[in-house]
Amino acid sequence: MNFLVTGGAGYIGSHAVKRLIEAGHQVVVLDNLERGYRAAVPSDVPLEQIDLRDTEMVATILGKYAIEAVMHFAAFAMVGESVTDPLSYYHNNTTGSLSLLQAMDSVGVNRLVFSSTCATYGEPEQMPLVEDMAQAPINPYGWSKLFVERMLRDYAASNADFSFAALRYFNVAGSAADGSIGEDHQPETHVIPLLLLAALGRRDSFTIFGEDYDTPDGTCIRDYIHVEDLVDAHMLVADALQPGDQRFYNLGIGKGYSVREVVDAAKRVTGVDIPIKIGERRAGDPPQLYANADKIKNEIGWQAQYTDLDRIIETAWQWFKNRPNGYREPAETDAVASR
Ligand SMILES: NC(=O)c1ccc[n+]([C@@H]2O[C@H](COP(=O)([O-])OP(=O)(O)OC[C@H]3O[C@@H](n4cnc5c(N)ncnc54)[C@H](O)[C@@H]3O)[C@@H](O)[C@H]2O)c1
Repeated sequence: MNFLVTGGAGYIGSHAVKRLIEAGHQVVVLDNLERGYRAAVPSDVPLEQIDLRDTEMVATILGKYAIEAVMHFAAFAMVGESVTDPLSYYHNNTTGSLSLLQAMDSVGVNRLVFSSTCATYGEPEQMPLVEDMAQAPINPYGWSKLFVERMLRDYAASNADFSFAALRYFNVAGSAADGSIGEDHQPETHVIPLLLLAALGRRDSFTIFGEDYDTPDGTCIRDYIHVEDLVDAHMLVADALQPGDQRFYNLGIGKGYSVREVVDAAKRVTGVDIPIKIGERRAGDPPQLYANADKIKNEIGWQAQYTDLDRIIETAWQWFKNRPNGYREPAETDAVASR
């Protein structure tokens, strides 16, 4: 199939590109490179440096490459930033997705896999999370994605040929097993990269935000899904979509690990006694978030291959050891760090 991957120069998108190519698909990347890296995209894959909100250009690209399906990863994805700069999130995530849909509609591309998030559920009281539970986001990031889910439902109701899946990711982690690509967010806000950067000495320490939650060891519990399992689910879903389908799936492994457990695993994997600090709770951090992932398993047969935290962290550690500066040159990294 001919795929357009938006955000294909970012962390998850670049892993999707790699897997799609390995599976024999034709792939084109659309990315404005605001938060992604040219080096994350194989040199023989066309990279169109375009902003998603440029509807006409997106439509042109869809036509030029005879695109049949879109995997839509491009977005901003930092909860804290969405609170301080909500308009950027609605503009990029919600308007950007609207622009993509308008472009697809104008040229008749009718298959879409959308990166949604467990942040659309807000602070649920019951665990694990099931797809038909109420969605009540507690930050603009979650809302910016939930609005897209709503838009997709409404558009699909008006176009019988259109099909989509909204995949609600939990905490995506790890790197390609061969260590060739990996995670490089600026700034980094995710637990596992922060621990590994501390293990490499690129950060002084790792801070646990709150150890007085109502959980067995007092720290927050999250569901960590390996990035390759996640993109495999996208490929299965893209293949399964039939005209008229509206699918919503959780993507997690169905098991939560506490921050303390992640810290211990990172220490085991790296062999480094990573310095740990304890900080205050962060506003809006629910004590526990983990998925019930039965629906996608039952409907399309997806199952996570990585269910062991140490193995997930090992793949990320491989990447961070290979590329301690990520995709940037050392001098560039130091300049970023000193800002
Ligand atoms: N990383 C996670 O744990 C996680 C969890 C839940 C959901 N998600 C979702 O997965 C998707 C990918 O996340 P990621 O961690 O790979 O992020 P990322 O920042 O590494 O990648 C996003 C990519 O999209 C590009 N982009 C952003 N806005 C664009 C625009 N307007 N036009 C063109 N390109 C644009 C960026 O340059 C970047 O390359 C996002 O939609 C995010 O909301 C991620």
